[in-house]
Amino acid sequence: MSVEEIFAFHRQEAGPVRFVESFGGWVVTRYSEVDRVLTEHAVFSSDELRHSTQPIPHSSNPLLRGLQAMDPPRHHVLRRIVSQVFTPRAVSALEPVITARVHALLADAGESFDLIGEVAYPLAVHTIAGLLGVQPSRWPDFARWTEAITSFFGTFAADEARRTAFHQATTEMGDYFREEFERPAGVIATLMASGLTEDELIDFCALLLINGHETTKTLLANAVLCLVSQPKPADLRLAVEEVLRYLPPTGGTDRFVTRPTTLGGHELRPGQRVVAMITAANRDPEVFPDPHTFDPDRAPNPHLSFGHGIHFCLGAHLARMEVRIALAALFERSWRITDLDTRRTPVGIDVLEVTLAARPREAVPA
Ligand code: HEM
Repeated sequence: MSVEEIFAFHRQEAGPVRFVESFGGWVVTRYSEVDRVLTEHAVFSSDELRHSTQPIPHSSNPLLRGLQAMDPPRHHVLRRIVSQVFTPRAVSALEPVITARVHALLADAGESFDLIGEVAYPLAVHTIAGLLGVQPSRWPDFARWTEAITSFFGTFAADEARRTAFHQATTEMGDYFREEFERPAGVIATLMASGLTEDELIDFCALLLINGHETTKTLLANAVLCLVSQPKPADLRLAVEEVLRYLPPTGGTDRFVTRPTTLGGHELRPGQRVVAMITAANRDPEVFPDPHTFDPDRAPNPHLSFGHGIHFCLGAHLARMEVRIALAALFERSWRITDLDTRRTPVGIDVLEVTLAARPREAVPA
C-alpha cells in the first residue's frame, strides 16, 4: 500500500477519529480535529501521569515530568522561564557558529559520507550541547547519553539492556549537570537565576536532548530525500517548511481527555488517550491543495509539524535554522545520494542512513 493509499484509507474507510485497540486510544487524522486536540489544552491534557487511566510503563522517564508533559498553570511558569533561552534573537546569534560547524563537518566528511552519522547527528547534538554550555570535552559523553535516552524512549517494550543504559545515562547526566550547577554559566546560569530547581533543570536538559536531536537529524535527512533531485529552491525557508509538512519528523503526539467531550462525532471519556496524527493532518486536502505533492514553493503552509498552542515547539526556530544552513552548504556543492538505507513506516519514510557524494561545485566560467 502506498503512503497516499494509506492516507486515503484513514480518511474514507476509518474516518477522521477512531478508536484503535492496539494504541488503547483515539487516533485523530483530520486537520481540524488534530488542531483542536493540540490547542484545547484544558480538555486534552499533556499530563499523562495525572490524567491517563492506563498503566504507564516508563513513569521514571524525565519526559513525563518535563515541560511537554505539563498543563497550566505550571506549564506557563516554566515555559516563560525557559523561553528566555530560545528567543529568536538568542537563536539567531548562533547562526555564525552553526554555519562554521556545518562547513567544518562537511570538510571533515570528505567527498563521500554518511549524512546522518557524520553531519546531521553531530550537528544536532553539538548545537544543543553548545546551547547548554556543555564543555566540548564532554560532547562524546553527551552524545552517548542522548543515544541511550532516546533509544529507550523510542521503544514501547524496552529490553533490560536498554533500561539499564537509560538509567545509567540519566544518572551520569544528572551528576554532570549537578557539578555544573556549582559554577553555573551561560544558559544554566540564566535558568537558575530565574528560579528553576536542580531537578527541573536536569529534566529540562533531558527534554531538550530528546526533543531536539532526533527530530532535527530526521528533518535534514528528509530534506535531502525531498530535494536531492531538484534545483536549489528559490526560497530555502519555504522549502524547509514543505519538508516539515510532507515528511514531519514527529508523526504525532499524545493527549489525555480530562472531561467528557465530543470529537468527530464520537464521545470521548476522561482518561482516554488521544493521538493527534500530525502526519495525516499535514496531508489534509481540505487545507493543503494537492497534499501528496512535494511543492518547495508552497505558501501558505500551516503545517502542524511543530505542534500548535501552548506546547508549540520551543526549538522550532533553531531547528529550521540548522537545517537551512546545512542545505545551503550542500547546495554549494554538487551532491547525489550514493546509498540509501530506509525503513518504511505506515505514514512516511524513517531514514536510517543516507550516504552522499558531495564536492565543491566547479566555478562556472564567466
Ligand atoms: C515541543 C517537534 C526540534 C524542543 C515540540 C512539539 C513538536 C515538536 C510536535 C509539540 C509536542 C506536543 O504538543 O505534544 C519538533 C520538530 C523538531 C523539533 C519536528 C525538528 C525538526 C526541537 C529542538 C528543540 C526542541 C531543536 C530544542 C533544542 C522542544 C521543547 C518542546 C517541544 C522543549 C516542549 C514545549 C512545551 O511543551 O511547551 N517539538 N521539535 N524541539 N520541542 Fe520540538
